[in-house]
Amino acid sequence: MNIQVCKDTNSIGKAAATMFAAEIINNPRCVLGLATGSTPLPTYNALIELNDAGIVSFETVRSFNLDEYVGIPRSHEQSYYSFMFENLFSRVNIKPDNVQVPTPASTDLNDDCVAYDAAIDAAGGIDIQLLGIGHNGHIAFNEPTEVFPFGTHIVDLTESTIEANTRFFDCAEDVPKKAMTMGIGSIMKARSIVLIATGAGKAEAVKAMIKGEVDPQCPASVLQLHPNVTVFLDAEAASLL
Ligand code: PGA
Repeated sequence: MNIQVCKDTNSIGKAAATMFAAEIINNPRCVLGLATGSTPLPTYNALIELNDAGIVSFETVRSFNLDEYVGIPRSHEQSYYSFMFENLFSRVNIKPDNVQVPTPASTDLNDDCVAYDAAIDAAGGIDIQLLGIGHNGHIAFNEPTEVFPFGTHIVDLTESTIEANTRFFDCAEDVPKKAMTMGIGSIMKARSIVLIATGAGKAEAVKAMIKGEVDPQCPASVLQLHPNVTVFLDAEAASLL
């Protein structure tokens, strides 16, 4: 793992955006793996600036998002589909037809999961994947468990994740209890991975990811086995290393 400690969230956003921009400039038809949450916002803002300045064009870029809640429609303001259009897709020149967010809508949600993995494979796989990390070490919605889940699947969210996401809803009861998420295998197949963690609340998870055993109880620890991972941290998130 290449670990970079940066001075603040804006410098992390610029550094991560530079890696995504380099990928797009080298391969204008590349496939991006994208994330939601508070962590990626400075990266998206820096990418929007690069697009506005004409330095990067998303014209032929394709993207796949990591996850989506089960049980709220795409049009819900807290759906990850809405989040991505509000914070990135409507603000750069990416084509709406070229973006995919998991859509758990069929009567058999497993069909949606199988179709999502097949679509990623058909696009040639993910060239560069953006990740945050949960307080419990989750990546995407791969929660601590007994075995690393391989492909896209439906997951029950843990209490810790529901609590962390309550800030986006009126109350904990309104937070969806299930999600559709890329699996650990889907994420590990990405050719390069950029993980960002900021704030003291992520310090324990960061320590377990980098210094702990590779253990599905800390899903992010699997990244120790990936050959091309860059981790951007601020001083607080790096404080236990
Ligand atoms: P956050 O979420 O960026 O909102 O902290 C990260 C995550 O849960 O993966």
